Order: sequence, then C-alpha cells, then structure tokens
Amino acid sequence: MTSLLSPVAYRVMAMSASEDRIIVSGASGQLGRLVVEELLGRGVSAQQLILVSRSPDRLAEYAEKGASTPFGDVDKPDSLLQAYAGGTRMLMISLALGSESDKRAQRHKAAFDAATQAGVRHIVYTSFVGADKGGDPVTEAHRQSEAFLHASGTQWTILRNSLYADMRLAQALHMARTGRAVAWPGDPKSALVTRRDCAAAAAGALAGGSRFENKTFTVTGPELVNTADIAAIVGEITGREIKVVERDPKGLDQDPPGPEGPAGPPPNSGITEAAAVVTDAVVRLSGREPASMREFLLAHDDQLRASASAEATASTAPSHLAPAPVTSATT
Ligand SMILES: NC(=O)c1ccc[n+]([C@@H]2O[C@H](COP(=O)([O-])OP(=O)(O)OC[C@H]3O[C@@H](n4cnc5c(N)ncnc54)[C@H](OP(=O)(O)O)[C@@H]3O)[C@@H](O)[C@H]2O)c1
Repeated sequence: MTSLLSPVAYRVMAMSASEDRIIVSGASGQLGRLVVEELLGRGVSAQQLILVSRSPDRLAEYAEKGASTPFGDVDKPDSLLQAYAGGTRMLMISLALGSESDKRAQRHKAAFDAATQAGVRHIVYTSFVGADKGGDPVTEAHRQSEAFLHASGTQWTILRNSLYADMRLAQALHMARTGRAVAWPGDPKSALVTRRDCAAAAAGALAGGSRFENKTFTVTGPELVNTADIAAIVGEITGREIKVVERDPKGLDQDPPGPEGPAGPPPNSGITEAAAVVTDAVVRLSGREPASMREFLLAHDDQLRASASAEATASTAPSHLAPAPVTSATT
C-alpha cells in the first residue's frame, strides 16, 4: 500500500522530478486542460510540458508560458513520433467512444507504440472502472488497451476512473427545472468522481517520479451516491422538492438514458457493479481529498438556482418571454 504524503511533499516531489518532460496526449480536451492546470499548480514548469493535440491553437495560452504544443493525432500515426520526441512520461487520455469504438484499443496501441519508440519510459493511461473484466464495448476497449500497455515494454500506471460526477450535472439541472427525477430500477449507487479529481490523480501519477509506476488505481469519489441522493442535494440548494420515480424495468430498452431519464449505466451493467466501490486513490495519488457530490453540486449552485427559477418564470410568463432551459452538461 502506498503511504500518504503531505501536500508540500507532493509539490517537492514534482519539482524534484524536474528532469522529466511530461507529454499530455489530448491536452485540449476537458480532462487534458485540467491535468495541465494541476501539473502547473504542483510546481511542474511549463517548459517541462509537451501538450499534444489535434488543435494546438487551442493551447496558445500554455505555449505563451513556454510549453511545447505539437500537433498529434492518434489516427495519423506519422504525426506521433515527432509529437512525442523528448518526452519521458506521458498521459494517454483515452479516446472517446465513437463510431470507431471497435478500433479504440488499436488506436490506443498506436499511441503506446509511438511513445515507446520515441523514448517515453512511463505511460499513464486513463482507463475505466470494470476494465479488469471487460464484457461490454466500453470496458472491453479499456481491458484490451490495458493489455497493450502492459505489453509495450514501458513503465505504466493505469488509472481506472469511475463515472464522472460531471456527467450528472445535466440530470441535476433537469431536476431543478422540473422538480422530477427518474432513476433506474433499484436506483444503484456509484462512487462518482469529479473530472477535476481525475485530473489531480493523473497529475500526481505523472509528477510522482517512479513512485506510482507499474500500479493500477481505481479512481473514485469519496462516497456512493444515487439519483435520490442527488435529488436531495438539488432540493436543498434550490428549495424545491424533487420527486424521484424509478423507471419501469420494462421500459429499459425503449428510452435511452439522458437528463430526462435515468443517468449512468443501467443496473444490470458490469460498469454499475464496478462503480459501486470507493477507494482512496485520489488522496494517495494527489495528496488531496476528492470532492463529494454535495461539494460538486454546490460549485454549480448558481446554475441550479437559475434552472429552478427558469421553470418558475416559464410557468408564469407568456411562452415567448420564458428563458431558454439550461441544458449544458459541461463544467
Ligand atoms: N469516466 C467517465 O465517466 C467518462 C465519461 C466520458 C468520457 N470518459 C473518457 O475520458 C476521456 C477524457 O474525457 P473528457 O471529458 O476530457 O473528454 P473530451 O473533452 O471529449 O476530450 C476528448 C479527448 O480525446 C482526445 N482525442 C480525440 N480524438 C483524438 C485523436 N484522434 N488523437 C489524439 N487525441 C484525440 C482529445 O484531444 P485533442 O482534441 O486535444 O486532440 C481530447 O483530449 C474521454 O475521451 C473518454 O475516453 C470518461
């Protein structure tokens, strides 16, 4: 078991690893940007950063501080060797599940191979809860990717991130607006973790020298929460009673999940089972306690109150004067 260090020790550790040059693959995405901020915040200099992206222009603010911002696209393998040149450690942010989902593991492998060839000696990979078992397209891609990383010959760290708490914001805003929440049958609980805490964990793994090499962590929030718990917090913040109803099990295949329906994977999914575990990985990797769902939602209290009052205005004002509903799930 890795012992805990003080926040000052984590900062000193990052600074003492100053010969490292750290690649962030996919640096302009939501997680990527937070990782960059976390690295800078713990004493890694901008000059140590190689921020690889398909859109380097979106990283201009870090280039101005001294970071390298080369173009790199996993689907253009020729771009990778040059992009990764000079890096010693790399964060490989997993690619989003899309139309090419069946090739996701192979695309991750292309990045691992190029990094190894470029001389990178430690790769941190953002995996997903349930990747140890696989069995569905999402966890199976991560399971295969982990296997490719193990076989790559580099040092590795695997971060099996739990379900993002951020993905529940759209549902919470919908609750605030409508006073209603729909849960999966049995309303299963998950150890939701904020994207920011996943970034802190990744930054800790990258800046920790050899301390976290060749280890797998399940990165979670501090508690198990479900839709009823989120509804209770939204109710407290907005002063509005939120009625929770459970989805009719017979309707499971008819209505895809979304803000108006149940959030997260269905109860019979391996991901739901794997996400029902709380670990201390965030504090071990980053030196910081992960945010609770209450803290996360309180950080969005203005949006939640606005959503609740938008509904109040909409129900009293003529429709052409009612404000547009808040639908953004981003943070
Ligand atoms: N735990 C969860 O609940 C959960 C939820 C959603 C997603 N995820 C996973 O976590 C990852 C990061 O999440 P996020 O919220 O930061 O997603 P995001 O904002 O959509 O970022 C996606 C990332 O993938 C990179 N990317 C996409 N195509 C690429 C390519 N061809 N070559 C290289 N990089 C490519 C992007 O980099 P550039 O645009 O800079 O090139 C970007 O950093 C996702 O990709 C997904 O695998 C986890």
